[in-house]
Amino acid sequence: MGSGLKIVVFGAYGHTGRFVVAQLVERGFVPVPSGRDAEKLKALAFASELSGPSGSSGWPGLDDYRPASVDDPASLDRALAGTAAVINCAGPFATTAAPLIEAALRAGIPYVDVAAEIEANVDTFTHFADRARTAGVLIVPAMAFYGGLGDLLTTAAMGDWTTADEAHVAYGLSGWHPTPGTRTAGVVSRERRGGGRVVYTNGRLELRHDTSPTQEWPFPAPMGTRAVIGEFTMADVVTIPSHLSIPEVRTYMSLEAARDLSAPDTPAPTPADESGRSAQTFLVDVVVRKGGSERRAVARGQDIYAITAPLVVEAVDRILTGRTRAGAETVGVASAGAIFDAAEFLRALSPHIQ
Ligand SMILES: NC(=O)c1ccc[n+]([C@@H]2O[C@H](COP(=O)([O-])OP(=O)(O)OC[C@H]3O[C@@H](n4cnc5c(N)ncnc54)[C@H](OP(=O)(O)O)[C@@H]3O)[C@@H](O)[C@H]2O)c1
Repeated sequence: MGSGLKIVVFGAYGHTGRFVVAQLVERGFVPVPSGRDAEKLKALAFASELSGPSGSSGWPGLDDYRPASVDDPASLDRALAGTAAVINCAGPFATTAAPLIEAALRAGIPYVDVAAEIEANVDTFTHFADRARTAGVLIVPAMAFYGGLGDLLTTAAMGDWTTADEAHVAYGLSGWHPTPGTRTAGVVSRERRGGGRVVYTNGRLELRHDTSPTQEWPFPAPMGTRAVIGEFTMADVVTIPSHLSIPEVRTYMSLEAARDLSAPDTPAPTPADESGRSAQTFLVDVVVRKGGSERRAVARGQDIYAITAPLVVEAVDRILTGRTRAGAETVGVASAGAIFDAAEFLRALSPHIQ
C-alpha cells in the first residue's frame, strides 16, 4: 500500500487524471492534484463525487492542490516539492512531457506518464535517457492502456525468449468514445508526421502516406474473428522495441472502434457504473512469433481510460517500493516491460484485468 506518500497528478482534473486520483486514494497514497487551471483544481478538490467519509473534500491531500504551468518551471518545482513521484496525465504530451520531466529531474523523483503520442514517447527516450541516468531518476513513459499494457503482455508472452521475429498487438474494443484529450493527441501526432502514418518494420519506425489495410483478426472466443484496421499504430511500437529485439511490431484496431475515433460526432465517454467506468469493453490479444513457434497473451477488461489508473498507480507503487525486474536498470528511461516483472505485474492487476 501507498503508506501516505504524496504523488503529484499533473492534469488531475482531466478524464484520466480523475481515475488516477481515485486509484491513488484507494491504494493509500496522497494525491497532490496539479494542472494549469486553479479553478478546475479547486472544483476537483471539493467535488461531491470524490467526497469521502470525513466530508468537505473527504480525501486526504486533495485540498493541497497546486496550480502549475509547463511554461513556468518555478511553478512546476513548487508542485513537485516534497512529493515522492509525479504522474503526468495532461496531454498533448508534445507540450507537457519535457517540462514535467525537467522538473522531475530537478526534484530527483520518478516521472511516469500516460502518453499515447508515438512522437512524444520517442522524444522522451531520445532526449532524456542519458540525463535521467545521470540524475539517478527513473522515467516511465506510456505507462497506460496503450504503450504499457501491450508491452507487459508482449513481454509476458515472450517468456524465456529474448528475441522474436514478430509481435502483433490486436485491440478488440467494443467501441471508442474518445475524450477531448485523445482527439487533441491524435491531431498533434498527425501534424508531427505531416499527415502520414507510422509503421514499425525492419527494426525502425517508417513513415507511410498510403491507407492502412483492413483485414480480419482471430480474437479468442467469445469475440471471435473481427475486422480490424491493420497497422493502426499505437505507442506499443515505441515501448516494445525499446527493450525487446523484435524487428516487426504491428498493432491492430477493431474496425468499430477505429470508426468511432475518426467520426467527428462520437461523444465523449459517459459513466456506466459507480466507479465512473464507461460500458466500453476491451480485449488485447498479443501474439509473438519466432521461427515456427507462436506464443500468446490476452487481457480483458472494461474502459481503456479507467484501466490506465491501476496500471500507472501499480507502476508508481512498484517503483517506490523497489519492486522492479531483477537486473533492470532502475534509472534512465524505461518502458513497463523493461522495468517490471511483466507476468507478476499483470497478475497484480487482477481483478481490473482478466
Ligand atoms: N496511453 C493511453 O492508453 C492513454 C490512456 C488515457 C489517456 N491518455 C492520454 O492522456 C491525455 C489526457 O487524456 P484524458 O482522457 O484525460 O483527456 P481530457 O479529459 O481531455 O483531459 C486532458 C487534460 O490535459 C490537460 N492539458 C491539456 N493541455 C495542457 C497543457 N498545455 N498544460 C497543462 N495541462 C494541459 C487538460 O487541462 P485543461 O482542462 O486545463 O486544458 C486536462 O486536464 C491524452 O493525451 C490521452 O491521449 C493515454
